[in-house]
Amino acid sequence: MTIDLAIVPVAGHGTRLLPATKTQPKEMLPVGKKPVVQYVVEELAQSGVRRVLFVTGRGKASIENHFDVDAELTSYLRETGREEQLAELSFERLDVSFGYTRQRRQLGLGHAVLCAQTLARHEPFVVALGDSIIGLNAKSQIVRRMIETFEKQRADAVICFEEVAQSDVVHYGIAQPKSSSRGAPKEADVFELAGIVEKPRPDESPSNLAVAARYVFQPSIFDHLRAVGPGKGGEIQLTDAVARLIEQGGKVLGLRLAPDEKRYDIGNFESYFRAFVEFTLADGDFGPALRAHLQKLLAEAP
Ligand code: UTP
Repeated sequence: MTIDLAIVPVAGHGTRLLPATKTQPKEMLPVGKKPVVQYVVEELAQSGVRRVLFVTGRGKASIENHFDVDAELTSYLRETGREEQLAELSFERLDVSFGYTRQRRQLGLGHAVLCAQTLARHEPFVVALGDSIIGLNAKSQIVRRMIETFEKQRADAVICFEEVAQSDVVHYGIAQPKSSSRGAPKEADVFELAGIVEKPRPDESPSNLAVAARYVFQPSIFDHLRAVGPGKGGEIQLTDAVARLIEQGGKVLGLRLAPDEKRYDIGNFESYFRAFVEFTLADGDFGPALRAHLQKLLAEAP
């Protein structure tokens, strides 16, 4: 049976996006017309995921509501002949079932994944961060390729990577590719990891390949998550569990994003604003007028 379960952690505080995230989850912020987490679920569905298990927390109920069927709204739109708006709700009929569990204390991404253990049980699964979109309009098949690689190569984990500027490695989990130094693997290549480090200093970083929000794991990762203590920032880090898995002889493969599969990180304002502009400029209805408006603004700018 191929992997069809994804754990989607959405329990983080999102403090870097305050005040926008004071009472609404960052995963529900719109990028163009849709909230971030809708892109994530649509991307997973097109890669064959049929069960999404959200790890939520306090103040995240709107995520659950978003994926529920709103019968009242549907009949209102139907009765008033608003077919176009009705079509915007088609995601409610995605062939995906949803489960929810809570992370009661925000002890880090690794801890959030661990909270899903009793529901995920003993099968391999995908982890997709609920605040990151892969590819413009989430048109990426990266998770499908990761699942295929995982199964074909009998890996213990497959992790998706993107190249970042050397100065930015401090923000990410960074790969140490096997038998090669700095960033040797080419785009869309599969490579084996000799190690992985969380947020290294640029002068100590083993490469500039940063974890890009998508993973596939054997359930053995839960044992490693239990074994690692708090790491950087006092949080239980998924990266530390992967490092332990590698140290103990686990086969961990990296897959690089293709050039048309940019990662949009909606965790800080700079990349959120950039993503919003890119997605709205690409919108068939509103993009052309927005482009003209921006060109006018930029031409007038001092
Ligand atoms: P981040 O690493 O961006 O953490 O989360 P954060 O706490 O949400 O944000 P800041 O640093 O306060 O601004 C990456 C993903 O992991 C989830 C988040 O919801 C996000 O989708 N996460 C993070 C959890 O589910 N639980 C945690 O304890 C931390």
